[in-house]
Amino acid sequence: MQPTSPTAEQILHQVRQLYEHYPFPPQPIATLPPPGWNWRWSWPQAHAFCTGIHPGKRKVRILDAGCGSGVGTEYIAHQNPDAEIWAFDLSRKALEIAQARCQASQAPPVQFRELNVYDIDQLPGEFDFINCVGMIHHLPDPVAGLQALAGKLAPGGILHLFVYGELGRHEIRLMQKAIRLLVTGSEQQPLASVEQLQTGLKIGRSLFQVLPADNPIQQQERRRWASENVDDECFADMYLHPQEINYTIDTLFELIRASGLQFLRFSNPQFWQLERVLGKDESLLAQALQLPEQQRYRLIELLDPVVAHYELFLGKPPLPHQDWRSVEAIEAAVAHLSPCLGLWPSQSIFNYAYEALSLGEAAFAFLQQVDGIRTVAEIQASLPLALSPEELGQLVQQQVLLLEPRE
Ligand SMILES: C[S@@+](CC[C@H](N)C(=O)[O-])C[C@H]1O[C@@H](n2cnc3c(N)ncnc32)[C@H](O)[C@@H]1O
Repeated sequence: MQPTSPTAEQILHQVRQLYEHYPFPPQPIATLPPPGWNWRWSWPQAHAFCTGIHPGKRKVRILDAGCGSGVGTEYIAHQNPDAEIWAFDLSRKALEIAQARCQASQAPPVQFRELNVYDIDQLPGEFDFINCVGMIHHLPDPVAGLQALAGKLAPGGILHLFVYGELGRHEIRLMQKAIRLLVTGSEQQPLASVEQLQTGLKIGRSLFQVLPADNPIQQQERRRWASENVDDECFADMYLHPQEINYTIDTLFELIRASGLQFLRFSNPQFWQLERVLGKDESLLAQALQLPEQQRYRLIELLDPVVAHYELFLGKPPLPHQDWRSVEAIEAAVAHLSPCLGLWPSQSIFNYAYEALSLGEAAFAFLQQVDGIRTVAEIQASLPLALSPEELGQLVQQQVLLLEPRE
């Protein structure tokens, strides 16, 4: 007999059950703030990355949608100490851990709510920045979920999205189906009870014990995932999930169009450069560059089919944009230091993307004067040695210096 498709209610129940039993992610709780930074969760840095513009100092509202056990939420809170922060999840257990995590590291306050994304209107107001990592692809209706989030995004707001990619998860899908077949007798039938999840975990672990080293599923697991999957929570999230939708560039862009939001940028733009794949053949590259944006990305993933997830920013118009090509515009702008710098203040630093940079004497002296109040021209005038337009342009391009157009 063919299994019947579960209803949306059943899917939500099964998803909640998975995360009540295996709250994700399982990182231990620490008393110190999280190490380093994740620039995607810094409002000024993410805004500058998407629009070229530092958003200024106004107090913003940030939402972590499907926050799980709060690893991302904790970063968001520490990295945006002036923001009003909210976070919600379907799983009570995950929320308890998230709350304990933020308390332990004395993060700025976060309003946690147990909530289904489809009921998001229960939260007050709109948000300037929404983080949604790893939730949309587990919903019974991802379009309705993303539309619900879009409805809570303020005009000019930005949404950071992470969804699974089909091409890089081929072997994971096969293993998921194999486990279902062994546990339920049907590869379409999700693991619907805690007992089935526990059996699935045991069987999945055993399969990786017995599959030979040259088996492609085994190889992918060892090469890409095994270090994470030591924890049962990660293994369950990857191989036992009752609901998962994997995207390609084309289905991702369909989802984006249906959400009504605007695609801004991938957060790993280097990967999505045609030059990376076709750079050795100028005429092929020129031909590929003629394609529209979505098809260019599709060509890249077809030729380099490793994408296990897409990470990107969407925005709700009107969104400003500035490329700072004019020296006059740079000089007239208010100067802000990137909030994501390593080893600052020194002449050898890391920028937001952990790229090592060496600052010259003049650039170092200039950056030390940056206060988020004065314009570039005002700072230049206060220094014995002004920076050249090229040096200024470089600091802007490396996103060490973030600029806010003066009103
Ligand atoms: C893979 S985890 C990601 C957790 C966290 N965002 C992270 O990246 O570390 C997915 C989370 O989405 C939550 N979730 C799934 N469906 C949801 C829904 N309909 N409403 C709210 N949260 C949901 C789950 O409970 C789970 O904690």
